[in-house]
Amino acid sequence: MTMDVVVVMDGPETVVPATDTSFGLAAAAIERGHRCWHCTPADLSVVDGSVRARVREIRPDAEAIDPLGLGGATDVELASVDVVLVRPDPPFDQDYLHLTLVLDLVADATLVVNSPHGLRTANEKLYALRFPDVTPPTVVTADRERLLAFAATHDAAVVKPIDGHGGRSVLVVRPGDENAASILDTVTARGTVPVVAQRYLPGVRDGDKRILLLDGEPLGAILRRPTGDDFRANICVGGAVEAVDLDDDDRRIVDAMAPALRADGLHLVGIDVVDGHLTEVNVTSPTGLRQLCELSGARPDLDVVRWLEHRAGATASTSNPRPEDPTP
Ligand SMILES: Nc1ncnc2c1ncn2[C@@H]1O[C@H](COP(=O)(O)OP(=O)(O)O)[C@@H](O)[C@H]1O
Ligand SMILES: [Mg+2]
Repeated sequence: MTMDVVVVMDGPETVVPATDTSFGLAAAAIERGHRCWHCTPADLSVVDGSVRARVREIRPDAEAIDPLGLGGATDVELASVDVVLVRPDPPFDQDYLHLTLVLDLVADATLVVNSPHGLRTANEKLYALRFPDVTPPTVVTADRERLLAFAATHDAAVVKPIDGHGGRSVLVVRPGDENAASILDTVTARGTVPVVAQRYLPGVRDGDKRILLLDGEPLGAILRRPTGDDFRANICVGGAVEAVDLDDDDRRIVDAMAPALRADGLHLVGIDVVDGHLTEVNVTSPTGLRQLCELSGARPDLDVVRWLEHRAGATASTSNPRPEDPTP
């Protein structure tokens, strides 16, 4: 079965092949004989209830100036393709919400990864709170005094915007620091915007593990180590990447989450584990697959595609009859 896969993502100019999971997924699908198409959220239209996408075929070449090698634009009815990968980068904003509401219209006919419902359900910082046995002590509040008391109880706290990503505005607050109150006023917009505060986990110096999960099962993991004085391990702020195995804490975390991830249609996610604790659940466009392939020498990218083949077949046989041939 040759699949048509549409990747809804940011513009082609954003793609860095060495680190771009969307690029890696498209290249792996094509390697297995499927056809892949690129579009952005702005390329979707709904016409009389049917979702149309203006797509361009992907012909990947990691060395090229345009690594996606996009062909000419053509129109496709999204319900007639086999898989839609939802991969715009966070934040999950109003535009992202609208994208999921449009994709709801095809989610019965086509395999949408991650499911539009799951993308709305799982805020990347708050979803972890469903698993209190494996998360660090956490408060979510805009209240400065509560945040200062929390930091004092735990020696230090890490505060983060609820819709943040890439390490942006993630800060350590230590009691007694003359900047602490001012930092909290800044991140909460003077007590009007709630933030997430977690106990500062000193083991972050040994790295932040990114575990990629497919349908609740680990595909593998990479370790991101902070460099210099920065405690943040995000690759985009300079974190160094190395290979790593899952340990008992990781398996306990994965086991705790797997049923919820499956129930919420969160097929491909990247969880962050610091010091044996779950700190974040990345669902919008989790990264790390390219580095995992390179460092492990394995092909978890092909595992993802084989799973898509399996699940798309199941979706096709249980959904309404589909047009014989997709428009492209
Ligand atoms: N509770 C914590 N204790 C110590 N360091 C943390 C904690 N939470 C996050 N960090 C550090 O901050 C970085 C960014 O935090 P994270 O929650 O993953 O948000 P983002 O969405 O910005 O990646 C992590 O890579 C890690 O280095
Ligand atoms: Mg993170």
